[in-house]
Amino acid sequence: MKISDFKTLKEIHEYFAVHNSCKLKKSATQPVYEIEPPKSGIVFIGEAPGLNEDKQGKPFVGSAGKLLDELLKSIGFSREQVYVTNVVKYRPPDNREPLPEEKDACRVWVNAELLLIKPKVIIPLGKHALERFIPDLKISLAHGQAYMHSSGIPIFAMYHPAVALYNPILKDTLAKDFLTLKDFLDGRITPEVALYNPILKDTLAKDFLTLKDFLDGKITPEVIETTGNPIEDVNKLSAIEDILKL
Ligand code: URA
Repeated sequence: MKISDFKTLKEIHEYFAVHNSCKLKKSATQPVYEIEPPKSGIVFIGEAPGLNEDKQGKPFVGSAGKLLDELLKSIGFSREQVYVTNVVKYRPPDNREPLPEEKDACRVWVNAELLLIKPKVIIPLGKHALERFIPDLKISLAHGQAYMHSSGIPIFAMYHPAVALYNPILKDTLAKDFLTLKDFLDGRITPEVALYNPILKDTLAKDFLTLKDFLDGKITPEVIETTGNPIEDVNKLSAIEDILKL
């Protein structure tokens, strides 16, 4: 079966509901998914279905879903205009966090959804969805900012609405991050490299300080003579790069 064989999300879900090895299938009532692609091209990815989602077969229909609806409304979107999915399609028992093998078992399913939708932006909600796209970035550092994924699709990191339900500070952060998301969607945030990557932004800031040291003569440039041996030349160059921290 090739991804291009699927013409609709319904076909994808019906196929993967049968062809997947997720062990959560045994304890869950049913898989949880939506079947309408979003006109806006906006895709949210949560963690895993909870009790209400398991009963209804639809994502984010419980209290976290209500908060998501409110946040969407605050930036002028209704739930029907966006697509919502989860890293795992079945409810983990007692609402525990999904295990790595459960996330892996649903990975191709989520990939198939994304390939069919071709999102304009993907918004991972919380750490499980974020790590799927940017493995070593903490949600506490990443939230409220856009990153360019190697697929060419921007990833806008958000806290999971469930963590904000009982934490008023995080609820405010989430509300602010939604306003930033709106600025991003409306093109008011310029897609400069640094804006897509706070780690690079820090590196850039440090490099400017090193540049200042260099301009003030505190760092002496080394003279590089080529050796004619490309490997040796590269080694020399990387030594210089270390000094200048480029
Ligand atoms: N939390 C999630 O991550 N997904 C849902 O569908 C509901 C709550």
